[in-house]
Amino acid sequence: YTRAEVAQHRTPSDRVWVTHGTDVFDVTDFVELHPGGPDKILLAAGGALEPFWALYAVHSQPHVLELLRDYKVGELSPEDAAPPPADTEDPFAGDPPRHPALRVNSLKPFNGEPPPELLTQSFLTPNELFFTRNHLPVPAVEPGSYRLRVEGPGGRTLSLSLAELRQRFPKHEVTATLQCAGNRRSEMSRVRPVKGLAWDIGAISTARWGGARLRDVLLAAGLGDKSGEWHVCFEGLDTDASGTPYGASIPLERALSAEAEVLLAYEMNGQELPRDHGFPVRVVVPGVVGARSVKWLRSVAVSPSESPSHWQQNDYKGFCPSVDWDSVDFGSAPAIQELPVQSAITEPRPGAAVPAGELTVKGYAWSGGGREVVRVDVSLDGGRTWRVAELLPRPERGRGWAWALWELRAPVAAGTRLELVCKAVDRSYNVQPDSVGPIWNLRGVLSNAWHRVPVTVT
Ligand code: MTE
Repeated sequence: YTRAEVAQHRTPSDRVWVTHGTDVFDVTDFVELHPGGPDKILLAAGGALEPFWALYAVHSQPHVLELLRDYKVGELSPEDAAPPPADTEDPFAGDPPRHPALRVNSLKPFNGEPPPELLTQSFLTPNELFFTRNHLPVPAVEPGSYRLRVEGPGGRTLSLSLAELRQRFPKHEVTATLQCAGNRRSEMSRVRPVKGLAWDIGAISTARWGGARLRDVLLAAGLGDKSGEWHVCFEGLDTDASGTPYGASIPLERALSAEAEVLLAYEMNGQELPRDHGFPVRVVVPGVVGARSVKWLRSVAVSPSESPSHWQQNDYKGFCPSVDWDSVDFGSAPAIQELPVQSAITEPRPGAAVPAGELTVKGYAWSGGGREVVRVDVSLDGGRTWRVAELLPRPERGRGWAWALWELRAPVAAGTRLELVCKAVDRSYNVQPDSVGPIWNLRGVLSNAWHRVPVTVT
């Protein structure tokens, strides 16, 4: 069979096919028997099993392959057994391979989010599943010749190799959630069209980041003595056709604060940064919109003004719902930094038919600025009555930079239609707005209304 033929078999009605090595299997009859649940095995339908087995080590046991052997229906044709050659004209041809479970919102540049049912499987998002938000092709960086330029007013500069960044500064680790300003944009565009990628609820993920504190590097460069309003501007090694790099900035006060824990990260969940997430060095600004955590970092500059980058000046700003593309004045709104409180239901999915009996509702909740989530309320009746969800124990006590995963179990009766709703409360008692209309904005950012999931009970 060709890979294209295998890819046509993605649902039980078309039969569910998968590959392992060069073998092709029809696992339709196994779907309901899958110990991890039918929804999880269906994520691999029509493609290779290996990327999923690599994530969930329970599959690395001899009896699993043996079990699979019973479902073999054929082999991949020889020309399909090897990957296709790369197209050298394409600026994105050098992009890294991606995990097939990522839901692709745009292929070039690559933007993908983990499927909701995998998003809250673990507190730390596996690197392969971490949402990816790229504006440009992924740069190929040779770690041996990489240098980070740190500069400030008066010509003070510092140039650091990767080895110097690792050796001169103590390694600091922070568990932090990153969220894109456009997370849940697709709900906003249902109210009225907006410009931007149609993210569902997965433009958010959590990792344990390791690297040098930005504060330590700025102090070593002699840039820690400023008073008044200053900014730290970052540039990436990714550039557009005119040579302009991705850029963003944060206030110097945050960069110098020991409590804010801003990192120049070279590790993600104990591994070197993957290429899609900024190899070899990226900024991680905990509690702040993902746009400021600049990847493939080439320069850090202390400046009296914010980054001149389009992504600081024009994008990633919020406006009144009545502002449209004719009336918008980008200079009138501040760039988004700390994000508002957020939560979403990851299971069940909208439109699902759930069995009568005990229903388990799962999701995540997070707030910006280190304001940890103190409570998540869940409703089964569209917001008329509420129950308090259980916040799952966090693997480590942190400063509140990471999300809370939560669950609620409730009895549900057959034949009913439910509207599941969740809303979170952060440490400052900030709450989410109940509907999207009043927070609609033309770029579809800051979409954090109550998350509503209609289901039927069978
Ligand atoms: N840094 C560079 N150099 N180029 C980019 O396109 N995207 C930003 C930020 N840093 C971006 C970047 C945006 S908008 C987000 S939300 C985060 O990276 C996403 O980080 P991730 O892809 O590791 O999830």
